[in-house]
Order: sequence, then C-alpha cells, then structure tokens
Amino acid sequence: MRARTVVGNWKMHGELASNAKLLGRLRERLADAPCRVGVCVPFPYLAQARDLLDGCPIGWGAQDASAHPRGAYTGEVSAAMVAEFGSRWVIVGHSERRSLHAETSDRVAAKAQAVMAAGLTPIVCVGETLEEREAGRTEAVVAEQLDACLSRLGAPALAEAVIAYEPVWAIGTGRTASPGQAQAVHAFIRARLGAAGAGATVVYGGSVKPANARELFAMPDIDGGLIGGASLSIEEFEPICRAFD
Ligand code: PGA
Repeated sequence: MRARTVVGNWKMHGELASNAKLLGRLRERLADAPCRVGVCVPFPYLAQARDLLDGCPIGWGAQDASAHPRGAYTGEVSAAMVAEFGSRWVIVGHSERRSLHAETSDRVAAKAQAVMAAGLTPIVCVGETLEEREAGRTEAVVAEQLDACLSRLGAPALAEAVIAYEPVWAIGTGRTASPGQAQAVHAFIRARLGAAGAGATVVYGGSVKPANARELFAMPDIDGGLIGGASLSIEEFEPICRAFD
C-alpha cells in the first residue's frame, strides 16, 4: 500500500534515560503527523518503545531480524520475537549490514520474507556506493538488490513492504542525493515492480534533515524518508515528519 511514511533508524544509539525523553516527546508532538511515523530501535529497547508509545499512532520496530524462525543461531533475534513486542517495522538490508556484516541480496530477501511471515512490515534498503554511481552502475546495483526480493516474495508482496532507496554515499555523510537524483531512482524502483509499483511505498534515506526533507518529499515518487542521525533529536525529526505539503 502506498502511504507517506517517515521512520527513524536509531542505529546503535540510545540509553534508557534519554530514550524515555525522546519517546515521550515523539508521543506528545507527532501523534498528529501527516504521515505514518515509526522508530526502529536497538533490540533491548523494544519493550521500552512499546511501553512509551503504546496507544498512540507512532509505530516501533527493529533494525534487523534473522532469516531463520528459531534454532541454534547464537546472537540472532527472530522476527517473531520482535513481533512479540507489538512491533510494526523491521529494517532489512541496511547498507551497514550489507557492508559490515556481508549480507547478500539473497540473505536480505530471506530476512524480508521472515519479517512478513511474522506479520511485520519489512523496510528493505537498497542503494549504490559512490564508486558504483560513478561507474554508471546505479540502476544495475539497485536492480540486483530488488530482484532478489522480487524472486522470493513477488511484486505484490514487495509492494506491501516499504522500499528505502539509500545511496550509500549519502548515509551519515551530510551529502544528500539531489531531489532529481533521488526521484530518478525511485521511479526506476517503481518500474521494476511492474504493475504493483504504483501502489508501493518507496522512501528516501541518506542525510535527510529539516532543510532538505520538503524538496525531497515533494518529488512524485518519493513517499517519505528513512532517517538516521536526525531521528535522534525531536527538534529535527518533527519537522521532517511534517515536511509534506
Ligand atoms: P542518515 O542515515 O540519515 O544519518 O544519513 C540514514 C540511514 O542510515 O538510514
């Protein structure tokens, strides 16, 4: 389903006391946001997010989940465990996991499938490195990442997920894709989903800030954002969640 969506990715940040303040402010200030709002927190804070956001429209979730339902996988967390905390979202295939944890596109697709099987919505991240962009390979890279999900899930199911286009060179660097660059890849992603593409939610991630969110979200194929650094501050996250006309 296509819907305006802004999700915060806290990455490996937070502690109980500062989380409580931030979650309380999200609840106070974003219950009437003009989009779906979510926060993906480190696993140990899922219960805290549930306790402090329960009953308000802001959703919560995790930043990864195992491709396996259960078993001898020390250190892994299943999607069903994440679901037990009332979660709605799970990020899969973030570039930090693809590059630092050697996750292949097929592994990411298996994780997306596991997340859906647990009744949660995967936020599937795709995007090229600077080297790949400069070699003219952006579409080939994004296509390979998407096709792994398409072949496992099919386009109609993938259109029920959220796809996040996050150029690796824009993540945490302060360097944002221009609205035109982002729009072009978003249109490509929709086209790759065929008939289901028009109904998919496709969001942009990579150094989104209050100063650039509105022009990005105004693009015809951009439905919102996946927000890293700026999701840790209510003063930055609130205006981003409201940057829709
Ligand atoms: P950033 O991160 O907003 O800090 O660039 C985005 C992301 O990694 O999802």
